[in-house]
Amino acid sequence: MILTAYLRTGLMAALAGSVGCKWQSKSVEPEKTLADPIAKAEAKAMECMVCHGTKEAQRGPILDGMEVWYLTEQMEKFRSGIRGNRPSNRSEHLMGVGARKIESDLELAYLADWFANRPPVPAIRTVRGEVEKGKEFYEQRCASCHGANGEGNRLVRGPSLQRLEGWYFLEQMRKFRSGERGYHTSDEGGRVMAAASKDISDGTLRDVVAYCVETFGPEEAPSNRDKYLGPKPSTKLF
Ligand code: HEC
Ligand code: HEC
Repeated sequence: MILTAYLRTGLMAALAGSVGCKWQSKSVEPEKTLADPIAKAEAKAMECMVCHGTKEAQRGPILDGMEVWYLTEQMEKFRSGIRGNRPSNRSEHLMGVGARKIESDLELAYLADWFANRPPVPAIRTVRGEVEKGKEFYEQRCASCHGANGEGNRLVRGPSLQRLEGWYFLEQMRKFRSGERGYHTSDEGGRVMAAASKDISDGTLRDVVAYCVETFGPEEAPSNRDKYLGPKPSTKLF
């Protein structure tokens, strides 16, 4: 919110400079001109939501409530082609297309702030695994960079894992492992994470994802089955 206010002020100042001369002419209405870039950035966020929301066919991860620094960093990577340039990684390539919609650094900052300030979204549980085994593995191999509770550790650029849905979490782990993410020579964070995921079996990945989502992940949303058939008998007690 503070950043949004700051950006608004910045935008106004920038605009005041660039359209200053027009202000003298009566034909330009300052109010309307100043509001435009914000309206444009908001319209852009709606375009992102086509893939990043749950209303339409969701193709990308839910970004709501992710950390602003991580969102900024990833968008910069997509924009510069450090991430999202490998056609074989189809979903990443799709986002590469999405990222070309971001027209300026200011718009990028606005979008990162917009997503970071949205409340977290509940998620359907999609990955099953042995939570106890996952916990042990997480503490040994992940906690140092992502925090004991998945809160993230910015000192080593490890993002929070608290907002990730199971399907996306598992998919990213497999991509890091196979080198489909974190391959670019300038992708420092990506390469660190790719190294951290080598040689982990699929079964262990499932255990660790199930543990993270269950313990500090998004709140559980009812599955479609529950929505259509109603709650299970045991939850009708209240
Ligand atoms: C055509 C669909 C599509 C559009 C439009 C799109 N994205 Fe994406 N986005 C994706 C997909 C798919 C991924 C996951 C990429 C992967 O698997 O590595 C992604 C990933 C991301 C990530 C990385 C998340 C993470 O956890 O690392 C960010 C940030 C992001 N998108 C922001 C945006 C923003 C901001 C916009 C609007 C300007 C946008 N996206 C538009 C499909 C899209
Ligand atoms: C040495 C530090 C380090 C270790 C250990 C590590 N990570 Fe990471 N992790 C990172 C960094 C840095 C990133 C950011 C990658 C980027 O910038 O693309 C990351 C990114 C991720 C992402 C992507 C999040 C997203 O939104 O797309 C997931 C998922 C993840 N790590 C899970 C794990 C799990 C599970 C483990 C344990 C098996 C682990 N990490 C171990 C440093 C680490």
